[in-house]
Amino acid sequence: MNNRRCKTAILISGSGTNLQSFIDRAAAGKIELDLSVVFSNRPTAYGLVRAEQAGIPTACIEHGDYCDRETFDRAVAAKLDEWHPDLLVLAGFMRILSPWFVDHYEGRILNIHPALLPAYPGLDTHQRVLDAGETWHGSTVHFVTDELDGGPRILQGKLAVDLNETADELRARVQAVEHGIYPEAANWFGQGRLEFRNSKAWLDGEWLEEPIVSTF
Ligand code: GAR
Repeated sequence: MNNRRCKTAILISGSGTNLQSFIDRAAAGKIELDLSVVFSNRPTAYGLVRAEQAGIPTACIEHGDYCDRETFDRAVAAKLDEWHPDLLVLAGFMRILSPWFVDHYEGRILNIHPALLPAYPGLDTHQRVLDAGETWHGSTVHFVTDELDGGPRILQGKLAVDLNETADELRARVQAVEHGIYPEAANWFGQGRLEFRNSKAWLDGEWLEEPIVSTF
């Protein structure tokens, strides 16, 4: 990437509070990412409004219009590639990616998952954590591979669970943590400090055998 900024595509399906955290940090000059395009698979996603208000180009392709996952993914990639992205940031993009798509952007896709992976992959994490009486919960930034929620972990935000709180209250606290850790980890990529090599995550040349953990 030399001295130019990392061209970043942010993929959303919904509200886009994580997207907003990127927009706010970029506006404040705190991250070295060029937010090139925001993509949604849902035309009603509020994140598209956030992007338009911030003057970021948007694109939307509805997955329901495609006969299978890979055909949709190829259409998404053809659209995204108009911006030549260096990095894809999945921010509440609620689609499972085809192997073709993951390979097309190998080592250049980040995701945030609302759990302390490898615990609680999949959906409905906050309720499942409360039901299990867990002491700790949080969120994980990781590289995307073919394994769902299974790629190399980079950074986790961890918080103590209050078993008297509702799943919505816990979600709100986890999302506040996400808004700090996700732009930070993506910025490491933009700075060339974070890379995906030999199916592993590396930060400043060191293999991240375990993710970095921040406790809130
Ligand atoms: C975030 O909490 C993110 O961790 C989660 O969706 C939410 C999106 O919120 N992602 C997943 O569950 C992916 N499996 P946002 O639209 O307000 O950023």
